[in-house]
Amino acid sequence: MRVLYNVLPILRARSTSMRMFNRVLVLTGAGVSAESGIPTFRGKDGYWRNLDPAKLATPEAFAHDPKLVWEWYRERRQRIRNAQPNPAHKAIAKLAQHAHEFLLVTQNVDDLHARAGSPKEKMVQIHGDIFVTRCSRCDFVDTARGGSSEPPATSTIYPNTGRLGSIAPTSAQRDQEQEDPPKCPRCSALMRPGVVWFGERLPWDELRRVENYLEDGPCDFVIVAGTTATFGYIIDWALRAMASDGELVEVNPEETPLSQFATQRMRESAAVALPRIVDELVISRSSKL
Ligand code: OAD
Repeated sequence: MRVLYNVLPILRARSTSMRMFNRVLVLTGAGVSAESGIPTFRGKDGYWRNLDPAKLATPEAFAHDPKLVWEWYRERRQRIRNAQPNPAHKAIAKLAQHAHEFLLVTQNVDDLHARAGSPKEKMVQIHGDIFVTRCSRCDFVDTARGGSSEPPATSTIYPNTGRLGSIAPTSAQRDQEQEDPPKCPRCSALMRPGVVWFGERLPWDELRRVENYLEDGPCDFVIVAGTTATFGYIIDWALRAMASDGELVEVNPEETPLSQFATQRMRESAAVALPRIVDELVISRSSKL
């Protein structure tokens, strides 16, 4: 197995043409936001180590106890509002600017990729957007983004006790989230977070955007960062994108089911590895112009 700590060897080995940068696909997961202070799901302090997904992230859980589910999502919204994009998010936004064709597919429901500058038209949030609130019955969607530009709250509590911690909401958030749980202004059914829960289908439009990108041709460079690749479609998309001779770089301190397919494995944190990978790609590209 090749474990490289520098992508220059990849570039040198494949420096015969510019084609490497024509099409890029980046797939990200919770590990990319970990260094911004957002817990992962399956890591050491990950959400699913202490909390039961069946009680918080399924349609059944919401039907059974919508208040509890909303408390969890509000806490997560607040934690994300308090967080800042890290160098990994910024590096991906930079890569989007330099690649001829680019798509970022993130499983993250936070807005850190967007706040780092990743353009909306080059990004798919395949598991939804935590700041969107939508009706659980009709098609009403509130995209007011839950007040994500408001000032940070004073404290956050990690759920490592296995219990949901409470966070004092700021005034703007309090106004919006006073109603508990919120009701649809159109049909009065319960509103729910605009995320994908276990047992639900991926959003059709977003899925179509990924498929369209893959159908347009193979990628020269695929980066998969900060995900356990638990869901088969992540591995499937990475493999289809790299096709027969693309590079597949995995950035993850841990081995994952995807590792066996990667052409390069960077066993480092995303905030360390991604800026270096992107800088090297960009430098190499400009030196050939
Ligand atoms: P996981 O929590 O399953 O995996 C996080 C991955 O990030 C692990 O493989 C870690 O080794 C890695 N990691 C941790 N810190 C890192 C760092 N600083 N840099 C790079 N990698 C790091 O999160 P996801 O794979 O994103 O789904 O989980 C996928 C989905 O499962 C989530 O979107 C969520 C969850 O249930 C839904 O909510 C539908």
